[in-house]
Amino acid sequence: MTDRISPDGEIYYPTPEVVAQARVKDWDALAKSALADPLAFWAGEAEELEWYRRWDKVLDDSKKPFYKWFAGAQCNIIHNALDRHQKTGKKNKLSLVWVGERNEVRTYSYFALNRDVCKFANVLKAMGVKKGDRVTIYMPRIPEIVIAMLACAKIGAIHSVVYGGFSVDALQGRIEDSESKVVVTADGGFMNGKVVELKKIVDDAVRHAPTVETVIVVQRTGHEVRMEPGRDYWYHDLMKLPLATGVSATEVMDAYDPLYMLYTSGTTGKPKGLIHCHGGYMVGVYSTLKYVFDLKDEDRYWCAADPGWVTGHSYIVYGPLLMGATTFMYEGAPTYPYPNRWWHLVEKYGITILYTAPTAIRGLMRFGESWPNRHDLSTLRILGSVGEPINPEAWKWYHRGIGKGRCPIMDTWWQTETGMFQLTPTPVVPLKPGSATRPFFGQDAEILDENGGPVPDGEEGFLALKNPWPAAAITIYKDPDRYVNQYWSKYPGRYMAGDSAKRDKDGYFWVIGRTDDVIKVSGYRLGTAEVESALVSHPAVAEAAVIGVSHEVKGQAIYAYCILRKGFKESEELADEVKAHVGKHMGPIVRPEKITFVDSLPKTRSGKIMRRVLNARAQGLPEGDVSTLEE
Ligand code: WT7
Repeated sequence: MTDRISPDGEIYYPTPEVVAQARVKDWDALAKSALADPLAFWAGEAEELEWYRRWDKVLDDSKKPFYKWFAGAQCNIIHNALDRHQKTGKKNKLSLVWVGERNEVRTYSYFALNRDVCKFANVLKAMGVKKGDRVTIYMPRIPEIVIAMLACAKIGAIHSVVYGGFSVDALQGRIEDSESKVVVTADGGFMNGKVVELKKIVDDAVRHAPTVETVIVVQRTGHEVRMEPGRDYWYHDLMKLPLATGVSATEVMDAYDPLYMLYTSGTTGKPKGLIHCHGGYMVGVYSTLKYVFDLKDEDRYWCAADPGWVTGHSYIVYGPLLMGATTFMYEGAPTYPYPNRWWHLVEKYGITILYTAPTAIRGLMRFGESWPNRHDLSTLRILGSVGEPINPEAWKWYHRGIGKGRCPIMDTWWQTETGMFQLTPTPVVPLKPGSATRPFFGQDAEILDENGGPVPDGEEGFLALKNPWPAAAITIYKDPDRYVNQYWSKYPGRYMAGDSAKRDKDGYFWVIGRTDDVIKVSGYRLGTAEVESALVSHPAVAEAAVIGVSHEVKGQAIYAYCILRKGFKESEELADEVKAHVGKHMGPIVRPEKITFVDSLPKTRSGKIMRRVLNARAQGLPEGDVSTLEE
């Protein structure tokens, strides 16, 4: 079966095979009924899961924008992700198949995963972790990161996962803000054939974070690490203690109780700790994964993101387990040791669904089709993309080169804040390369201008969501006002996404990019403020401004403009030193691509950096209206 492309070449219709397999064959009918009565749709989805106590009200919007889904209900996401599967044949099904960069394989049945989660839950309890306490998790892509997250959820503790590609300052800030008592980490991880020394970074970060009483260390690399007596414990020692039994009661939570926090960058200042809750989040993630990736019992599903980002939380860890599916996880990089690593894994493990990011696709595309062509990729049936707009060229390569024209691509637009897909097709929706298509069931989106007025189809404006949805972040940790101001104030009654987008005449949405000071480097969301403060923490840098400049593989790359302090002379060595400094403090993904030393920065009279002007300069374009410029 080859592509069925409309005459204008822009619409890819689903193949009859895809339609035959699809759970929902008539997208329009379900979309219409869900939109007519979103609460009935969501109640129906919630009915498919188990609750300790049923809700009194599907949605309590008396305190909006603090929407309370499934008000009055009691549940625990772990009950649905693990406990209930112990009573069915799922108990013996693989929940997690893990492959390490050095080719080790570990598999967990639902029974085994539950047993280890219970054991670790008992360990955490013995360490004094109670319901509502925060636990920071800073780990490589190994099964224990999943176990640690689930164990926290089970006992009602709030996990705060910090991506392993971040470094000391980023980790320290997140530990401090969350006031975590416990940090779970590893002696290191393998990536690109090298060891990432996570424990050393934790030692540095914890030195300035007085709330941390305990550090639990998983042995992954076997490298020697310093263990501080009375504070640091080996995971494998703790899991052997008699108290670490394989039985542990799951904490009864209110639907609105916090499940986890996840830091993300916004317009200004420090990253914000978005809080997701048990009930609504569970329903939203379950339902979106079910309809969009159409997960079936026999699928082998691989979301190649990192668990440290929301994609990993929702669609590596919680979503697949809620579905009772088999999820695949790979520790390393896609191109190590050769650019066929992923394709080899797809073939060897019979992956049926692959969900990744445009940056990874573009990175692999560079090596050409001969690498995937060495492998039998015929098990694949659905592909996915997330994190940034996918350029049509990469879309078509993915569709043809990997999906062989058989597999629809689910381009899912969503955010840390939304918790679940918002704009997305399902497998039967006709696709247009580069468009995340239309709102998910129950949702409606619109394109608005600066004043909240509608923008005509085909023109660019601000993307806003019209309806509340169950997996939305419920607040920003310790800062509910910021939650209201950031997302719900610009357009009363609407969620302001912070993206610019267009809608076309068919009602398809085309997301263009962020409207704020967020830079997307390889799909990772970074705030200019965080990068700039890392730059000025170098002794030579007096002032700094960064922008995102388009990059062929990364989507965007960081360009930094720095004013030097007196007594420092610009040189290439100094630029390299400053780059390395940012890499060391904030993490390798934050390292600027290019540093330019300047004498002044374009600022408004009120002192705000005019990134627009820097962007124009970086691209050699006219600077536009600079009447407010005070350089
Ligand atoms: C921002 C959110 C949610 C998972 C990972 C990102 C951009 C995300 C798409 C897409 C175009 C996309 C947006 C959004 N984005 N998915 N399919 N098409 N843009 O989560 O780190 O919170 O970033 O990522 O700009 O606002 P995040």
